[in-house]
Amino acid sequence: MVSFSFTALAALAAFAASVVSATVPSSARFDLSKPSYDLYRNKPLHDDTVQQGFAFDNVNRRLFVSQRKNGAGETSGDLCITQLDFSGNEVGHMYLEGFGHGVSFGAQADGSATYLWTEVDANDNGYGKQLARFKFTSGKTLTKSSSELRKFKPVAAATEHTCAVDPVHNRLVVRYHLEGSGKHIAVYDLAAATKGDFSSPLADFKQPLPKTKGKNFQGYTAYGRYLYLLWGDSYDVSAELNSEVASVDMNTGEVVQGPLITKAGSTLSFREPEGLAIYKTAAGQVRLFLGFASGKAGDRRSNLFYKNVTVS
Ligand SMILES: *[C@@H]1O[C@H](CO)[C@@H](O)[C@H](O)[C@H]1NC(C)=O
Repeated sequence: MVSFSFTALAALAAFAASVVSATVPSSARFDLSKPSYDLYRNKPLHDDTVQQGFAFDNVNRRLFVSQRKNGAGETSGDLCITQLDFSGNEVGHMYLEGFGHGVSFGAQADGSATYLWTEVDANDNGYGKQLARFKFTSGKTLTKSSSELRKFKPVAAATEHTCAVDPVHNRLVVRYHLEGSGKHIAVYDLAAATKGDFSSPLADFKQPLPKTKGKNFQGYTAYGRYLYLLWGDSYDVSAELNSEVASVDMNTGEVVQGPLITKAGSTLSFREPEGLAIYKTAAGQVRLFLGFASGKAGDRRSNLFYKNVTVS
């Protein structure tokens, strides 16, 4: 009996290994049931709209937050990127015209410069069809046809692409849309992606939990082997706090924890969940950051919180 089970398990494991090609090395995973701490609250961005996503250059220790450009149409794809210090004070900004919605983007150090990875070429819905990489230059405006952009289409058949960077493991996490099949996640080595090589994803799977209980999808990021997802609505849309987070094992595409309600910044006004990102402090503490917009229309504010308890 014991030997039969062992043989059956071994056969199953061999079968699983032959069909699952994902090869993301193991890593610690954030415990989403643990509390969140403040980085900052109620800080103005360069423009007045709600924040969308945010990203850290972990080498140069910089923070960038995206939002729709003031006065731009919902589907124009015009974005403002604000650079902030870690107390939430504005350090610089740039405008990106015709790029996308800004739900998620990534940052990558190159010496003392920061290059951003964003969606670009907004479609009729205002979502970027492919990805762009360019140097963050404060005060500059780039259009979708600027020569400073390098463009990438990681998945040829996909009609929309956004991304995030795992700045600790140096990976590019791409969320792409396939007509008739919905949202998928692919993970690439960041150095390979920078060379335009998307031929060997470490993982590529259909995103589970596409629209949790009707709530809006609000952000994603990855740390090591695990993907993190965020949903929820502002208090204007849902009087009850409904923000939720979940983690997914990228080697199986299965949910590991959640969706669990997060009460980070529960007392903020408006409080729309907006973005996730990873950052490792100089002291070596790894943080899963959660973003929220607060405040009144015409004067929205940025808020960042983090979780830092991991399980191995
Ligand atoms: C998490 O961050 C809080 C606040 O900064 C700190 O008090 C706590 O020690 C940290 N926990 C871990 C596991 O790093």
